[in-house]
Amino acid sequence: MAPPTVREEVKAAFEKARDPGAPGPGPASTDLADAYLGLLKLALCDLAAPRTMSVERTPLGVASHEIRDGWLKLRSLGMDWPRYGLSMAGLSRLDDLQACVRAVVADGVPGDLIEAGAWRGGASMLMRATLDTLGDERAVWVADSFTGFREDLQTEDLAAVDFLAVSLEEVEGNFARFGLDSGVKLLPGYFEDTMAGLGERRWAICRLDGDSYEATRLCLQTLYPRLSEGGYLIVDDYYVLDECSAAVDEFRTEHGIEEPLEQVDWTCARWRRESDTPIEPARPGSAPSASPPDPRPSAVERPAYTPVPTLEELTLRRETAVLRERLDAAQAELERCRHARVARLGKWLRHRFAPR
Ligand SMILES: C[S@@+](CC[C@H](N)C(=O)[O-])C[C@H]1O[C@@H](n2cnc3c(N)ncnc32)[C@H](O)[C@@H]1O
Repeated sequence: MAPPTVREEVKAAFEKARDPGAPGPGPASTDLADAYLGLLKLALCDLAAPRTMSVERTPLGVASHEIRDGWLKLRSLGMDWPRYGLSMAGLSRLDDLQACVRAVVADGVPGDLIEAGAWRGGASMLMRATLDTLGDERAVWVADSFTGFREDLQTEDLAAVDFLAVSLEEVEGNFARFGLDSGVKLLPGYFEDTMAGLGERRWAICRLDGDSYEATRLCLQTLYPRLSEGGYLIVDDYYVLDECSAAVDEFRTEHGIEEPLEQVDWTCARWRRESDTPIEPARPGSAPSASPPDPRPSAVERPAYTPVPTLEELTLRRETAVLRERLDAAQAELERCRHARVARLGKWLRHRFAPR
């Protein structure tokens, strides 16, 4: 049988996707926690209203447009870039993340939680909020360059897209607005520079969302050896980014990791560490043995905030630019005619009044 086409896969994912929604509160404190976390996930995904803004690359540039009705499932599935939402992971992956946090707390798995590649911080905010509902004080680490992707690793021109670069101040503000700022440690800088400083700390959840081969590989090498038995290793883009799955598969093979990969949704995979067989942590900054060491990335200057125009605005901008060009050409022509007329008049006057 032929493998399903992308269209068929997306259709099947849409059919399975859950509708945006949150449970209402009930009398039990667990109902209240579910209601709070349900609402929080809607807010993080910007799905509280019947319509929301989605961002995508278009032939005219990066633009936003409204989605509503059945198309809101795009967001539930984490298939689009939210214009204002605080996570692009979508409801299903956030549901799963919440379940993982509850599981490690329930099972007493020791260690902090870390997200490597946090963008606006939404998924890490959910980890913090879930811990808070359980009265668990372990820390949530939020590692990101806070200036977007490395410029030298142009994954589909990701580095060029300022939309994906979110400043440290903005992420801090997001945690603070939701009252989730205590027990959070922001780790700014490229993973190549920051992972080394995490030392002997143990982890209960490592959520990797840095997309590139290099980021995924480096985070596995530095974080996985300290992942506790019973802890989760979550890879956000395993099924859609070949370089990301290559880094994971390579790492699992090299270290004989046999715990089964579980598919969370159309793109995310995770496994739960079942043994604490030691794995030698790599020297941070070192690449797989066969490749030369990674060059140290240099910092990229990016605007703190880049407004995203709507598709209509982009179209109008383009039309205005064409009209402006035509107007400039017409004005230049007018000017040329005016000079020609004045020159002709001067010639006539000189001829008419020239001394005879
Ligand atoms: C796809 S976004 C993360 C989405 C986020 N987890 C969410 O739930 O919405 C990828 C993030 O990884 C960060 N990133 C990519 N490569 C990095 C690196 N080498 N060092 C630090 N951050 C990096 C980018 O700045 C960006 O914020």
